[in-house]
Amino acid sequence: MSYERPAVVDGALRLHFNENTAGCSASTIEAIRAFDREAAACYPDYERVTARTAQWLGVEADRVQLTNGLDEGLLTAALWTLHGPAIDSTGAAMRSEIVIVEPAFEVYAACAEAVGARIVRVAPSEDLQFSLDRTLAAITPATRLVYLTDPNNPTGLGLPAGAAEAIAARAPQALVLVDEAYANFSGRTLVGPRLERQPNLVVGRTFAKAHGLAGLRVGALVAHADTIAALRRLMLPFSVNACAIAALEAALEDRAYLDWYVAQSVESRTLVYNFCRRHDLPFWPSEANFVLFRAGADAGVLVDAAARRGVLLRNESHAPGCAGCVRMTAGVVEHTKTALTVLEDALASRAH
Ligand SMILES: Cc1ncc(COP(=O)(O)O)c(C=O)c1O
Repeated sequence: MSYERPAVVDGALRLHFNENTAGCSASTIEAIRAFDREAAACYPDYERVTARTAQWLGVEADRVQLTNGLDEGLLTAALWTLHGPAIDSTGAAMRSEIVIVEPAFEVYAACAEAVGARIVRVAPSEDLQFSLDRTLAAITPATRLVYLTDPNNPTGLGLPAGAAEAIAARAPQALVLVDEAYANFSGRTLVGPRLERQPNLVVGRTFAKAHGLAGLRVGALVAHADTIAALRRLMLPFSVNACAIAALEAALEDRAYLDWYVAQSVESRTLVYNFCRRHDLPFWPSEANFVLFRAGADAGVLVDAAARRGVLLRNESHAPGCAGCVRMTAGVVEHTKTALTVLEDALASRAH
């Protein structure tokens, strides 16, 4: 797969991966520490934690499949397109198409390439807002999967109400995967009765972001029971490890930590907006734990200057429609303040 891993610098403030800058909750790390030799020696059993996750999401347990990070869920949906390939009017098999709405999380394209699908990219709008009309226009009889993101990465913008449902209705031969990696920050989800009525809608969730479990790799797919059963058949039986399961069980109990972290992120977003306003940098109001702003033609120079001062940011200039844009994680308020001081300095040195 062609996903390019961003550079990592030891000891730097990592604001380039949309990670949780506080780390997981204290009770979660205690659960990991309590993990013992016997538990390490046994193949993981997810039944109890799946039931708990389903309860936390407000659905029945057979609507949920835990995954090795949401990334595994994204790949599993792509694998599904290999089964029962699209057929044209003459009965001939067509190469499956996977629709990606730009700018999009790069892993979608990597998954589509991995299964040999034809990637159909919906070009970005000028303002980077989601276009339902143009996404619907990209659907053909060969469409087998549509990746949608709510809120979007890298823009932080929400998916308009009803858009995923309309796309799923237009493409009954396809899965429509709504990636809700940042749902804890937006407070919005498609998980609920809608998934019962539209079995080709699949929601992807992760515990990497708001719960701070990115290093342990745990996410979930949520859909109609029949859809989950079909997707589960494409997955290896023990892809989520026992340590991640122990951590997830603890993390789901710690509502206070989640609420605290989301509040920190919301406050941090406002600090970033204010910074952007002060410096006349256009930005996109975000519903996620990061903010995208347009730094200008020398975005790379700014990102490099911040990195030299110990703050890692993501230059998004390579992403369609995002020339000159920088994405910055909005996590713990103190971290954001530190980063903005560094950026202030970097901007000042750019001016000379
Ligand atoms: C939109 C989106 N989906 C999925 C993921 C991956 O989630 P996980 O770490 O659970 O694999 C990310 C991570 O950055 C993301 O931004």
